[in-house]
Amino acid sequence: MIPKSCKRLAEVDFPIAEVSRHAAREKSIRHGHPSTLHLWWARRPLASSRAVLLGLLWPDPCDALCPTEFKAKARELLPQVGGCNPGTTDDNLRKALLKFIADFANWDNAAQRTYLEVSRALVKAAHGPAGGGEGYEPPLVVDPFAGGGSIPLEALRLGCEAFASDLNPVACLILKVMLEDIPRHGPKLAEELRRVGTEIRRQAEKELAELYPRDPDGAIPIAYIWARTVRCESPNCGAEIPLARSFWLCKKANRRRALKHRVERPAGEPPRVEFEVFEPNSEKEVPAGTVTRAKATCLACGAVLPPDRVRAQISGQRGGAHVVFDAHGRRTGGARMLAAVTLRPGEPGRHYRLPTERDYEGVRTAQERVVTVLGEWARGGKQGLCPVPDEPLPPVGTLGFRVQRYGMLQWGDLFTARQKIAFSRMTSLSGSNASTSTVQELIALCLSRAAARNSSLCLWLSHGDQETVWTTFGRNALPIVWDFAEAVPLSQSTGSLDDSFGVACEAIKAYPSSLRHSAQVQVCDAAHSYPLPDEASSVWFTDPPYYDAIPYADLADFFFVWLKRATPGHPLLRDPFDPANPLTPKTREAVQDETKRDDGRAKDRTWFEEMMARAFAEGRRVLREDGVGGVVFAHKTTEGWEALLSGMIRGGWIITASWPIATERSSRPRAHGSAALATSVHLICRPRRDDAGVGDWAGVLRKLPTRVGDWMERLQGEGVRGADLVFACIGPALEIFSRYTKVEAADGREVKLAEYLEKVWEVVGRSALAQVLGTADARARNGAAGAVEEDARLTALFLWTLQSTNPSTELGAGGETEDSASDEGEDEDDDDETSSRGKAKGFTLVFDIVRRFAQPLGIELPKWEGRVIETKKGVVRLLPIAERAKQLFGEDGAQAVAARLEQETTTTNPLQGMLFPDMQPGAAPAIRGRGRGFRKRGDAEVSDESLAGAREATTLDRVHAAMLLQAGGRTNALRALLKAEQERGPDFLRLANALSALYPKGSDEKRLLDAMLLAVPR
Ligand SMILES: C[S@@+](CC[C@H](N)C(=O)[O-])C[C@H]1O[C@@H](n2cnc3c(N)ncnc32)[C@H](O)[C@@H]1O
Ligand SMILES: [Zn+2]
Repeated sequence: MIPKSCKRLAEVDFPIAEVSRHAAREKSIRHGHPSTLHLWWARRPLASSRAVLLGLLWPDPCDALCPTEFKAKARELLPQVGGCNPGTTDDNLRKALLKFIADFANWDNAAQRTYLEVSRALVKAAHGPAGGGEGYEPPLVVDPFAGGGSIPLEALRLGCEAFASDLNPVACLILKVMLEDIPRHGPKLAEELRRVGTEIRRQAEKELAELYPRDPDGAIPIAYIWARTVRCESPNCGAEIPLARSFWLCKKANRRRALKHRVERPAGEPPRVEFEVFEPNSEKEVPAGTVTRAKATCLACGAVLPPDRVRAQISGQRGGAHVVFDAHGRRTGGARMLAAVTLRPGEPGRHYRLPTERDYEGVRTAQERVVTVLGEWARGGKQGLCPVPDEPLPPVGTLGFRVQRYGMLQWGDLFTARQKIAFSRMTSLSGSNASTSTVQELIALCLSRAAARNSSLCLWLSHGDQETVWTTFGRNALPIVWDFAEAVPLSQSTGSLDDSFGVACEAIKAYPSSLRHSAQVQVCDAAHSYPLPDEASSVWFTDPPYYDAIPYADLADFFFVWLKRATPGHPLLRDPFDPANPLTPKTREAVQDETKRDDGRAKDRTWFEEMMARAFAEGRRVLREDGVGGVVFAHKTTEGWEALLSGMIRGGWIITASWPIATERSSRPRAHGSAALATSVHLICRPRRDDAGVGDWAGVLRKLPTRVGDWMERLQGEGVRGADLVFACIGPALEIFSRYTKVEAADGREVKLAEYLEKVWEVVGRSALAQVLGTADARARNGAAGAVEEDARLTALFLWTLQSTNPSTELGAGGETEDSASDEGEDEDDDDETSSRGKAKGFTLVFDIVRRFAQPLGIELPKWEGRVIETKKGVVRLLPIAERAKQLFGEDGAQAVAARLEQETTTTNPLQGMLFPDMQPGAAPAIRGRGRGFRKRGDAEVSDESLAGAREATTLDRVHAAMLLQAGGRTNALRALLKAEQERGPDFLRLANALSALYPKGSDEKRLLDAMLLAVPR
């Protein structure tokens, strides 16, 4: 047993960089990984879950109270693993344990016998009875927001018991299969699944083959590419507009394929668009898509159909995935097939061809079958579940859902007739074939998994080397998809039964042997009456939901409706809180979605925060006094932190350490130019003692700078950068604050967490400035000697925050995994401006982050609005220097200034009087480039007074001016300027060098700045 006051390893050290590397790499593993069994959103990597769990379970050997059995065992066993030399000192032993944790985080070692045995034996040595006596009870690890099960699965791997719960039945079924069924039955389950899968596939083939006719030449369709259509409403046109975001079919270098079109104009009829598959030589040859942000362009007359009309027309077709045929079976409207993708026996690669009558015949048959099946069900008195999911979609406006406005109102509306029939038949075949309830659960998951690639919300991926049907859940949402791909479930390609069964078999076989099967899975609410007695668990480790990030329960209904049909009456697949609810429980779901209510109350921010505070308090209740907790926070803004952390502290926890781990894959295109967090902060916490006492504010503040400074240094050494680093500092700062019941100022006033966090931001900001500009700047208020001006400090802080953590993975070509949000399907919906389409250039940060830095450092953001930054809708953009050109040089431009510079002889301040030529002396300066209405820009206001002082060129203005001269090729003028600046003082070069280190690699600014610096006379 580890004594209560003995520190756990994760409270003193953690191999951040190595674990980050393994965690990020794991996201691209597509074969044999448990997460491939079924999608769940925001899954955490097993690598980080495993590593942190070990750090929570093992004591620190350097602690005087560390059990001697543990140290002895560790010395005995660690040498079995390569490279883990425990040496002779406690310090060496600690290093060896950390090395073990780092190496074991590698997916390749996760099922290795030695790693499993050593880790389990050491958990036992730490938690067994003193003296190694009889009666070992493995520690119980509890995860009340277990989701896809990363944490409890790792608990089992390490020989612990696990209690995994989630409010969502879909998550719980995944958990049951992962944590109970597979460990209990082992690899023979894979064999049985394969056997039953083959049988289901055979029967499905018999029933469904005619819906997917083969080509007369033997080619086999593996997918059909469709467009929803609307009619042009401009007078005298009436052409059908196929809605397609792009006409590319395949962009592979050796097989470029796309569609081009011509317009036929038969007399007395609306114009008709005809397609042709061709081989483009370049991007330019491929016609532009017909729809962006719900505006459709007619290919016949060029008219644009506005979003409300597109919506109305698609809505009239109930989503538009249905084909309209006339009495002769000819298509007259509705969805239009653009192309069929086929495989030809004996020929490599995929082939693209135009649709044929046969293709449409398959669709017509499917549509007729749907009518028959529904008719039979109705005539039979609607016994049992409707064969096609008739459960309602959530109401319009529900977080993340955009399809209802297009007439999709029931879950069944998301599917084509063929998909409805196929899944309705396959789910019922699963029941009749499954040998045991365990096999039936697995089959249900396989079918539900396949459904994600078989809805009318699946894109055809045609970029890079991709050539495949993409998942419905490319994002954690359900947006409209205009042109979609319909997979062929009887094929062997993506979205097929074979694919799904095969993936599941691989995942089962890759399970480590001898996994404990003592997990308990339960559908329950983490925040109310958690079904465990007080002090039941040794470790409480969880990864809670975050505000409005993911509408889990609504999304999960997509799967729920098929799972229910595949395993009717399954005890987990129901709403235990409301038997009348045909879908997953929503009321108690911890999500911020104001369209929803709990007990008459809208689920707003405060409601969410209260839920989380309750969950933290419940966690504290079920944890033993000597237990330890872990909470994963992976959030993009600071806004939620304060409330959630104060909920934790109020709930009786103290934070004892925090580790940022890169759990998201890096180098995503979207991460460029905006601060997207790559890390999740793992907070380590302990129950606070009742007699923790009152802290003294001055004392707390005294400790803060050193703690944060040391921490920043340590993390930077591990490659953590920018916003990731800022968030990671909140943890150690809290270690100082949360150890007291409360903190009081000298006058007895209680200091709130918010006030403390303000100080934390100030300390982090100053440390950052000290690093990039020097100590004078870090200390400086405005005008202080030796410091550059406010705009330079703002720019430097901005760029510093923007830097991204790079876990230096060897990601290679690693593809997307199921649950990673893709950049595909970027809001295709809507005219709505929150969409990121058409974004202005420049680097951006969330306003909240900029504000938090600026305020304590005396930077007045409104003063720089329109000049250095631009704030819109909660996002601050750093103006690219090109946009500053007019502001700096005026109408006559850089050339005029350059010409003057080349003639002027003044050396002290050569740009004085040249920059801002368009400003009226004394009057409110007419700074350029802000466009109209600059006085009210999002969150900032510009006052004349604030601008009045800004007319003299600052160091930043002069650096930018020099960069612009460099850009304009005005070498002589630039040389004159640089020489003068060198004589004037060190600030110019100091700032230029600092910025060069901060501007992202590959950015125009960095390139110009470096070129300019090369021109500096030495
Ligand atoms: C961030 S996810 C957990 C992901 C998990 N760690 C993994 O690796 O897959 C948060 C989970 O909280 C669940 N949840 C939301 N509200 C809940 C509540 N009141 N009680 C229990 N679970 C809830 C959601 O269904 C979701 O699965
Ligand atoms: Zn038209």
